[in-house]
Amino acid sequence: MAEFVEIRELGQHVDETVVVRGWVEHTRIHGKVAFVVVRDGTGSVQGVLVQKQVSPELWELLPSLTLECSVHMTGSVRAEPRAPGGYELGVIDIRLVGPSPDYPIQEKEHGVDFLLDQRHLWLRSSQQRAILRVRNEIEKAIVDFFYDRGFIRLDTPILTGAIGEGGAGLFKVDYFEEQAYLAQTGQLYGEAAAAALGKIYTFGPTFRAEKSKTRRHLTEFWMVEPEVAWADSNDNMRLQEDFVSYVVGRSLERCAEELKYLERDTAPLERVHPPFPRIEYTDAVPLLQGKGSEIQWGTDLGAADETLLGESYDRPVFVTNYPKEAKAFYMKENPADPRTVLCDDLLAPEGYGEIIGGSQREDDLDRLVARIEEQKLPLESYKWYLDLRRYGSFPHSGFGLGVERTVAWITGRPHIREMIPFPRMLNRLYP
Ligand code: 4AD
Ligand code: MG
Repeated sequence: MAEFVEIRELGQHVDETVVVRGWVEHTRIHGKVAFVVVRDGTGSVQGVLVQKQVSPELWELLPSLTLECSVHMTGSVRAEPRAPGGYELGVIDIRLVGPSPDYPIQEKEHGVDFLLDQRHLWLRSSQQRAILRVRNEIEKAIVDFFYDRGFIRLDTPILTGAIGEGGAGLFKVDYFEEQAYLAQTGQLYGEAAAAALGKIYTFGPTFRAEKSKTRRHLTEFWMVEPEVAWADSNDNMRLQEDFVSYVVGRSLERCAEELKYLERDTAPLERVHPPFPRIEYTDAVPLLQGKGSEIQWGTDLGAADETLLGESYDRPVFVTNYPKEAKAFYMKENPADPRTVLCDDLLAPEGYGEIIGGSQREDDLDRLVARIEEQKLPLESYKWYLDLRRYGSFPHSGFGLGVERTVAWITGRPHIREMIPFPRMLNRLYP
């Protein structure tokens, strides 16, 4: 019996007869020779059939090998420098495992709503596979970066009673007799663990009931959130620039093929090295106004402002120390200008905008209570969080990086809905 092999391993089986298992991407008949291209997730290989060398039954099977049917294809491996991957199969047998009549996605242009409805099948297309491979590398790079620096990974609850980022955009969950929410962030729990373990990071799905239909918003997205005891806002930004540079570098190094396939111009990514420029919010406002923005001191930067500002730099830029009223309750007051907080947003270049939000945390009990009351958040649900300021309070900082926005930037794709296998957005829960 011939051995089952993965397509990427064909090079180790030259002149042997093997079986590959996968999905048919393409069939072509040229007179008495036929070509069947099969994909198995590790690669694609072309099988070559010569009519007079195969059984009549096999030749008659060819018309039923339609797009995306699944097969076992048996043949002898030979080197073929012109073939993608460098090898092809001289086919002696094909077994049709799962037929695929009328596959909905054909080799023509389809609208994006149609493709999103077919997301479970669309994942099989070459672009989507390339994106998911880059995402995989980015996620591995994230874990490696923190592991290598001694951070402990901390899994935080998705069901929570404490509002993380403010009242807007919360998914409410009926939790027996209590009101619960889907976590907008793991940060508050990360802060508790920073006092136990020093340096931690959370990495998981987070939820925002965003009514915004933009290319940067999902209702479910993945976030990585480190939290570091004894770090101030400057230490925090240094960690961010090292981290982002590492993740970009790893993608360039290990996903060159995918980025090339996606036609990503990698020159702007090659420039991503620390240090990143920094600009204070208060200085960014007049600069933006000079470029035609209508921003007023006190409001958050809009997407257009982020694009404008990002265009002024050749690498990601930190915007620091925003006004209190534009940011979450937990950020530490800036002693140099108490109207503002010690925080940063990291804006990616090329119009990608905010990929990180970070801050030093308020470690003073009374100030924190005042901020919770100012924002009209329910004080009772933060009792445990306030305990962190009652028992051994400590300066600490952290940030959150949005995985899908980062994947969009690195792959150079315009919209984050293709950066996650099954996107959740306003009006989309299917498939
Ligand atoms: O700026 P945000 O809201 O910060 C936090 O959640 C903090 N708790 C992080 C921390 O300090 N530990 O979100 C952080 C990042 C954003 O910069 C963005 O990349 C991403 O999460 N993000 C979204 N991504 C996709 N869809 C959405 N609706 C997003 N909202 C935020
Ligand atoms: Mg933010």
